[in-house]
Amino acid sequence: MRMILVGPPGAGKGTQAVHLVERFKISHISTGDMLRAAVSEGTELGKQADSYMKAGGLVPDDLVIAMVIERIGKPDCTKGFMLDGFPRTRPQAEALDVELQKAGVALDVVLQIEVPDDLIVARITGRRLDPDTGDIYHIKFKPPPKDIAGQVIQRKDDTEEACRARLEKYHSETAPIIPFYAAQGTLKRVDGNAAPDEVSRRIEQVLG
Ligand code: AP5
Repeated sequence: MRMILVGPPGAGKGTQAVHLVERFKISHISTGDMLRAAVSEGTELGKQADSYMKAGGLVPDDLVIAMVIERIGKPDCTKGFMLDGFPRTRPQAEALDVELQKAGVALDVVLQIEVPDDLIVARITGRRLDPDTGDIYHIKFKPPPKDIAGQVIQRKDDTEEACRARLEKYHSETAPIIPFYAAQGTLKRVDGNAAPDEVSRRIEQVLG
């Protein structure tokens, strides 16, 4: 299974990815996680990406494309992968297409999780992460268990200001890739405006 998860910031991509990679036994490739790891490790890529990410902008295409192409070439991806947060621009979608064609493989599904803008800021600013496991929580919608409540952290770009910038980028740069995949016949849509378990159920239904 080769799959893409697309949706605005806070749509629940990371939350749903956990179940999907388990179900299909595929590798989870989150470009946001990879870039945050590069920033915290202080690599050259991380140094270049940091300011874009803090401001809620997009990291330049050439950097992200090179990072993803290297990653999907790794042995664990031969059995499939889930791309979470990539592609995010039309050039990224086209570069991925070229790479898959070269490898003689194709995408199975592009799953779009739709959530209205007015719900996004509350989801993003209330998100908390377990720094040890990466587990995703929310102060209201999915509070962390008591034993880890004291150690959860907030992402640097989970401020209201950065969230609004990310949302704007989603509409101007990422939403235009949706028709590209619709034309290829791989696009499936899910209404993400429900509790996480209900969204998982809807995804199961859509994927069959
Ligand atoms: P990235 O990490 O990919 O961030 P994002 O796309 O903005 O997505 P998020 O991780 O914020 O949200 P999500 O949809 O995963 O939601 P989650 O499940 O956590 O990218 C970060 C940055 O890296 C970008 O801004 C950019 O700078 C850079 N970058 C990454 N990829 C790039 C690329 N390809 N090109 C260029 N730059 C790139 O849920 C959010 C919260 O809501 C959680 O608290 C969760 O508990 C809660 N929640 C989830 N589902 C529900 C629900 N159904 N109901 C209520 N609450 C829910």
